[in-house]
Formats: sequence, C-alpha cells, structure tokens
Amino acid sequence: MDRERMKREALAVLEGNWLGRSTKPAPHLYPHQWSWDSAFIAIGHAGVRWDRAAVELLTLFEAQWTSGLVPHIVFDDGPYDYWPSPDFWNSQACAGAPAAVATSGICQPPIHAMAARRVFEARPDSEGRSFLSSIFEPMTAWHDYLHRERAIDGALVEIWHPWESGMDNSPAWDAPLAALGPRPEGSAQYVRVDTEVANPSDRPSDEDYDRYAFLLERLRGENYAPAIPADHPFRVRDVLFNSLLVAADRDLAWIAEQLGADGSVARERADAVAFEIDRVLWSEELGMHVSYDVVVERQIPQPIAGGFVALLARPSSNLVPQILDVLEREFLVRAGTSGLVLPTVSVSDPAFDPGRYWRGPAWIQITWLVAAGLDAVGSDVLAERLRDGIISLISDAGFWEYFDPVTGEGHGSDRFSWTAALSLDIVSPLRTG
Ligand code: SER
Repeated sequence: MDRERMKREALAVLEGNWLGRSTKPAPHLYPHQWSWDSAFIAIGHAGVRWDRAAVELLTLFEAQWTSGLVPHIVFDDGPYDYWPSPDFWNSQACAGAPAAVATSGICQPPIHAMAARRVFEARPDSEGRSFLSSIFEPMTAWHDYLHRERAIDGALVEIWHPWESGMDNSPAWDAPLAALGPRPEGSAQYVRVDTEVANPSDRPSDEDYDRYAFLLERLRGENYAPAIPADHPFRVRDVLFNSLLVAADRDLAWIAEQLGADGSVARERADAVAFEIDRVLWSEELGMHVSYDVVVERQIPQPIAGGFVALLARPSSNLVPQILDVLEREFLVRAGTSGLVLPTVSVSDPAFDPGRYWRGPAWIQITWLVAAGLDAVGSDVLAERLRDGIISLISDAGFWEYFDPVTGEGHGSDRFSWTAALSLDIVSPLRTG
C-alpha cells in the first residue's frame, strides 16, 4: 500500500470510530473512550487533524477524578454492549468521580503528557499554547495522583489490576493472578460480551475474566482507593507503566517550561523512577527489564515486549547492549523486505500463542513505543526497521488490533484506532524522531 493510500485509509478508520468528542478504539469491541488509546490517537491525529487531537485529550481529562485519577474508560451514552458496564463500575457512587459522565475506577499507562507535547509541537502557535495551558494543570494532577497514591514504597508506581497494565492477559500476570485463587462463591454473575464480538480464541480466557471481576469488585468496594493498599491482593510494579511515566514526566517538565512554569519536580521524579527501574526491575539473568510482584516481593521472570519500553526511560548505558542483543536475538521476527515485527512474547517461549491478545501477537503501539525507545538510545536504524514492520503488517492485512507475528494475519478487531493513528504518525511528515 503506498503512503498516500495508507494515510487516506487510516483517516477513514478514525472517522468511522469518531464519537463526537473522542474516538472509540474499535467499532464494536470497545465502544467507549479508552485512556491510553486516546493518547495514541491524539499522537496520530496531531499532524493531520489537529482539532481532533486536541479535543480527544481534553475530553479524556474532563472525566478526571478529583484525586487526579484519569479513568481508563469514559463511557459513551450508548446504548452499547460492553462488559463491565457503567453499572458494574458504579463510579458515580464514588466521591470525587465526575458527575456528568460514567467512568471506570482504574487507570492505564500514563502516556498522556507525551501525547500533549506532540500535539503542541504540531501547532506551536497561540492555539497550541492555549491547548497546552488547558491541559497542564489536569496533567500535573494526574502525575501527582500516580506519585502520591501509587508509589507505596519507593519511587516505582504500582498497578492494582491487569487492565491497568493495558496488557490484560500477559503471561507476566499468570502467577500473581493464580495466587488469588478462585472467585469467591456468591460473587455477582456477569456475562462477557467481548467473546460475542471477537473470536474467543483471540481473547483472554474465562478464568482470566473471573480474576478481573474479582479484583474489580475488591477495588469497587473501596471506591477504587484502598485504605490500606498493602492489603490489595494484586500489586505489580510494571516495567512498561513505570517507563512511560519517566518519559511522560520528562515531557511534563518540558511542557511546564514552555509555559514558564517550574518543571523541576517532574524532572526529579523522572530521574528517581528511572533509577529505580534499573535497580529493581533489571534482570541480569534475562538481559532485560521485567516487572516486580510486590505481594511476593520478587521480580516476575517473564520476558515480554513491554520490558523493552524501558529503553524510553533511557536505561544506564551499560545495560543497553544486552537489551538490544535480547531484542534482536530472541524477539524480533522478519516482515517484508526490511521490516521487523515484535511479538509480545518470544515465539520460542512456551507461553507463546500467536493469536491470543497479549500472549504472543504483535501490537502496533508496543512496537511504536519500542521504536521510540530505540531512537532515544541512538539505535535509529533498528527503530526504522520496526516502523517498516508496522507498515508492512498493515499493508498486507489491514488496520487490525494485533497480528500473528509469524504469518502477519490480523486478530482481535479490524478497523482499530491506534493502529490507524500510529500508521499516520509514521507516514506523516511530523514524525521527525
Ligand atoms: N482491555 C480490556 C477489555 O478488553 C479493558 O480495558 O475490555
């Protein structure tokens, strides 16, 4: 597919998923606004539909809680079939949740300041500056929330639900989820909708969903702000989440400075989290960063593509050659003439499943983030080959949610917004690295 055609088709996907003030991730499977999806969509729209990029982020932050939490789902009015529904989340019973919209009560990886910076860079005039001023305080409150409420012991922040990682059924969460045991008898019944809309073999298992429901009900029982976080049964210092926080804190500092405000707090926080990523999450044995299970006080020794997002936090330079070696030797798969594809789990890993959500398929946004991380450590040739791999997957199969990394076949939902948005970012002239 030539670049002009890709741009046209990507814009058509985003137009089809437009909800009026935000973009749903996919036509049927995800019919509301999702937090990190919106940030990627804003990045893709920045160079081509600036108005939409700005309103996407502003709409998301209108649903911010008074604690600073940016919820991972902002529900559209519907009617739509999606589980868990607004009633199940019951956000409006929580003090501090927005009155005007129903939301979830958990969050997703904090890439938003990176997106806001990109949006401003696409239009560094008075309109861009006015956007930046409007988003700056809410963005600061979001980062304050994470550093205040989620950094329980040390600088690294915790996630309390696999959905907060964005990588729901990653094999990295198998052990922490298994430790929860079965969902208690007498818990509320629920009916999954995702397996009606997508192929069940592409989605998490029913056992996974029981654990997701169990954790959601636990958090809901405490208004999504556990009084004693140490008692919560799923506590993970996720490498992807923390690495994005470092990159986003650096961008928040940059934004502050553009507006004549003080960026030093954000910069200090970025340095502190980056230091801890190398100290706590580096696995010498695996030659890459991994996540940490706070409940059992151990690293989770499962190599996943999310670990390479640590490159975005600019790890200590003596670690970079080992990371690149593991990435190239154990993960990357050839695609097209020069492209490389990044599976979420290595194809040689016993956990690898080529079509099941976060257990093997290649995802465009992880690949895009790792390419940005490679740029950040000066490996631009490899970064470009990852971006070529993205274009090659989409050219051959379309704008799928995820792809079999070996055959290139599309899985999950077709017409997926961030796949379209990030292809726009790659083919648009705004992408200068
Ligand atoms: N990723 C989850 C889903 O599949 C929730 O955010 O619905």
